[in-house]
Amino acid sequence: MKTRVEVSAQKLRGGFYTPEPLVRHCLERLRVLLPPRGEIDLIEPSAGDGAFLRGLASQSSLSRRMRRLVAIEPHELEGRKCRRSLTGIPFDSTVMGASAIEWGARTDELFEAAVGNPPFVRYQFISTADRAEIPKLGERAGVSFAGVSNLWLPVLVAALSRLRPGGAFSFVVPTELLTGLAASQLRGWLRNRFEELRIDLFPSGSFPAVLQEVAVLSGRAGQNIAPVLTIAEHDRRGSERRWTHALDDEHASWTRYLLDPTQLAAFDRALNEPAVVRLGSLARFQVSIVTGANDFFTVTDDERRRFELDPWAKPLLPRIRHAPGLAYTESDRAETLRSGARSWLLDFAADAPDPRRRKRPAAYLRSGEKRGLPDRYKCRIREPWFRVPHVERGSLLLSKRSHRYPRVIVNETAAYTTDTIYRGTMRRGAAVTANGLSASFHSSLTLLSAELEGRSFGGGVLELVPSEIERLAVIAAPQAAAWIGRLDPLARDGEEEVVVKMTDQALVAAGLLDPELLDLLAGARHDLLQRRLVRNSRQAEKPVAAMDRDLAA
Ligand SMILES: C[S@@+](CC[C@H](N)C(=O)[O-])C[C@H]1O[C@@H](n2cnc3c(N)ncnc32)[C@H](O)[C@@H]1O
Repeated sequence: MKTRVEVSAQKLRGGFYTPEPLVRHCLERLRVLLPPRGEIDLIEPSAGDGAFLRGLASQSSLSRRMRRLVAIEPHELEGRKCRRSLTGIPFDSTVMGASAIEWGARTDELFEAAVGNPPFVRYQFISTADRAEIPKLGERAGVSFAGVSNLWLPVLVAALSRLRPGGAFSFVVPTELLTGLAASQLRGWLRNRFEELRIDLFPSGSFPAVLQEVAVLSGRAGQNIAPVLTIAEHDRRGSERRWTHALDDEHASWTRYLLDPTQLAAFDRALNEPAVVRLGSLARFQVSIVTGANDFFTVTDDERRRFELDPWAKPLLPRIRHAPGLAYTESDRAETLRSGARSWLLDFAADAPDPRRRKRPAAYLRSGEKRGLPDRYKCRIREPWFRVPHVERGSLLLSKRSHRYPRVIVNETAAYTTDTIYRGTMRRGAAVTANGLSASFHSSLTLLSAELEGRSFGGGVLELVPSEIERLAVIAAPQAAAWIGRLDPLARDGEEEVVVKMTDQALVAAGLLDPELLDLLAGARHDLLQRRLVRNSRQAEKPVAAMDRDLAA
């Protein structure tokens, strides 16, 4: 994690400004959402150098109706630029040198319109004063900011909570609005208070100087509303595809609304098929061994020999890339050892010999003491500091993060894993074996549900936590165990999409899924996958091998 001094001042305050065409788009949304007549009081809660104020001055149909403009910008120099952009405008205006958080927690003013692009500032860089005010703002607005990790959320709420009924808003927001756990409270709040909610999505590269995918969230403050969300997907050529969903309160993530209604209906229909169950009913996946210092408690084969660590060394699968197939086999294990990777886990268990009584193992422990490991949090709270708890393994493996899709791998060598690869065990009485689960897992249905349940991070990586894995939709196909011999070599050859196709075909041939339904699911999964992979254009341009290296690092 970067400290304050390592981050540029611009980044610290979230000072990236909105290009003119995007400003125009936001203001046009505002115009459409506002009633056709009447005066407008408008709030811009984080005005920067005034991009939206300049845009407003040149949007005649809005500026003609403006009565009052309140802009907030805590950065003094930028505030001055803002004031300058307002010279000569024919309506009342104020630029406040304050924080939108403090303002939102106290002001009684109400507005017809709110517009802007809130600062993207990670929690560790938010000022102490703002941190103290955020819960007060939340209480006043009726939204919980517990777990909120970025300033854009409370700044947005500060502005939206000051809208009169019928008032409209339009903001550039990060796409984590759709899936982020921290934004889930905001999503619930939006659903209950706003109508005509719409998210416009622009692919990366749509606007000069903006490298990421852009999302614009707009809507109108309403009463007794039937919550709906429209998704408007723009392409680089300027065309647009649009669809609308009724928002329910059952699904915390909004990723599902990125599917068009036909795709979403197909997914919901698939969930009702008799063979489709939640993964949690067949197997249990858990966070695996937490050592507290992976680079000390895992060693290479050479270190194991040099420090005579044999009595404590247990086979380790260090990274998912060492398990290229659907099974982690003895020959994969031999290859892992040969690669020079950290392929042993040190388990100084109570019933094993005392390493302090042997010269070389004791020297190894001293090397950890010299590095201050006994004072590290996880090591400090156990006695002795080098005894890693819960050293257990599973019959299945599943990586916490993946590029294209998560793979369920049969652990044939009984290897252990640390916290980057989950361990899984089949539930007693499950309708399928570990081989059967692995062979049927990589279907369009299951991988679509992974896209819907999981969250994506920088570089388009998909992350799943155990509770999300439990909810994945899988097909309980006892006959699937026989397919693994055909699918495993394809996975090893890097034919990831062929594995999916063959799994789908096998499920259709076994009469477990309807081919037309599967086609829709495959298309839906493909759409979400593409969107995730291009989320960060700089990363998307990287070949998969380079992304592999990033993940392995
Ligand atoms: C992403 S920029 C957007 C500026 C302008 N709205 C635009 O779209 O060009 C966010 C702005 O928020 C300002 N800011 C940072 N912390 C703030 C806070 N607590 N309250 C209000 N604005 C803040 C930053 O100084 C920065 O100018």
